[in-house]
Amino acid sequence: MEKIIVNGGRRLSGEVMIGGSKNASLPILFGGIVTGGCCVFSRLPRVSDVLRTLEILKCLGARIRFLQGGDVRVDYSTVRAGSPPHTLTSAIRGSTYLLGAMLARFGRAELLGAGGCDFGARPIDQHLMGFSMMGAASTCIGDRVIITAPPEGLHAARIVLAMPSVGATANLMIAAAVLPEESIIENAAAEPHVSALADFLQRAGAEIEGVGTDTIRIKGGKLCGTHYRMIPDMIEAGTYLCMGAACGGPVRVRGVDPKHLSALIHTLRRMGITVETDRESVTASAFDGYRCTNVVTAPYPDFPTDLHPQIAALMALGPRASGGGSVTENVFDSRFRYVEELKQMGASLIAENRTLKITPTTLHAACVTSPDLRGGAALLLAALATKGESEICNAATVGRGYEHLEQKLRGIGAEVSVI
Ligand code: UD1
Repeated sequence: MEKIIVNGGRRLSGEVMIGGSKNASLPILFGGIVTGGCCVFSRLPRVSDVLRTLEILKCLGARIRFLQGGDVRVDYSTVRAGSPPHTLTSAIRGSTYLLGAMLARFGRAELLGAGGCDFGARPIDQHLMGFSMMGAASTCIGDRVIITAPPEGLHAARIVLAMPSVGATANLMIAAAVLPEESIIENAAAEPHVSALADFLQRAGAEIEGVGTDTIRIKGGKLCGTHYRMIPDMIEAGTYLCMGAACGGPVRVRGVDPKHLSALIHTLRRMGITVETDRESVTASAFDGYRCTNVVTAPYPDFPTDLHPQIAALMALGPRASGGGSVTENVFDSRFRYVEELKQMGASLIAENRTLKITPTTLHAACVTSPDLRGGAALLLAALATKGESEICNAATVGRGYEHLEQKLRGIGAEVSVI
């Protein structure tokens, strides 16, 4: 996926079936290594980050089969100790989950540089601190991290994280899942994808308490293969809801858990956007425009950082948006790389420290470059709502997290081609 060409300014309406969560798939697929058995995954999204994860597992010796009906079977019994090629691991952030999984199964893990979107520094000190509490020793040489368990093996530990990091919580849960004594992770992340990983590890045989709270207790042991159906992707769903609001709507996202989208739903309603929910769907429409508001990103259940660029683009779209608004980024140091690109379309945005100030203006079609996954989604949203032909280059970044993008957008009336 190189380029997305959009003939924008059309009203979008209809239904979008939401796929499985990318951010849940990565820790669960890597976490499967500690089961040492055969796992079958349903609703695994066919996005490039997931396909790369499967390639990494294959390089490590896992046997992967795409089953009829869409399920994917991964046999982890054949996984060998070792480190996969840097070209694969450096492409996705989720490769950090190899550290916990390989350390727990083989007593040694090695990773040369994890990739992912560039949001400024993305240290893994909390992951390493947790592993050291379990008795492991880590060495970092440049981008290379090597972690080794002590000769007697890892031991359970009480770990207090400095911040509720999704990555550190998941990595430590994976490692703790093979230890028979109780490990405790305090100040843990409560994101739905962390709960999904807990659910998967429980099905594989671990005992886990406190899921969705800031204290997770894990008692593990010998695990086995299992079947797991991925939770819906709340960020994909949120992106389509923002697109629906930007382009009139109503756009209905189906197959979702509305609870995961509470912060977004609350924000959209505050902006005067009509949002209706039922058990498994959420619908957004804004026939007469909407007002800007102030949004602050923070760990779940607050407003997700992965919807920051999309809500900012929604507010930048005058005259549908009125007033003035802001987005304050409280999770990552630097998540404003999309701002310069939106400005190419005429957006009036001022980024100062962690806050972006937004004054809605009438945008014009332009050729822009996607800087990262969600930043690219924000540019796509702006292009869909703006009259004329826009091009989004470096579109592979968007393909990392949006399954069947062209088909889903056409299904709600967009004139879009993916090249
Ligand atoms: C995951 C998601 C990403 C999402 C983010 C927050 C995946 C593959 N990525 O990223 O899409 O935006 O959660 O919901 O699931 N931090 C440290 N030290 C650490 C770990 C984290 O300082 O050891 C900091 C980070 O730099 C960042 C903050 O903590 O500022 C949150 O990071 P974290 O929750 O770990 O995000 P990721 O797991 O990288």
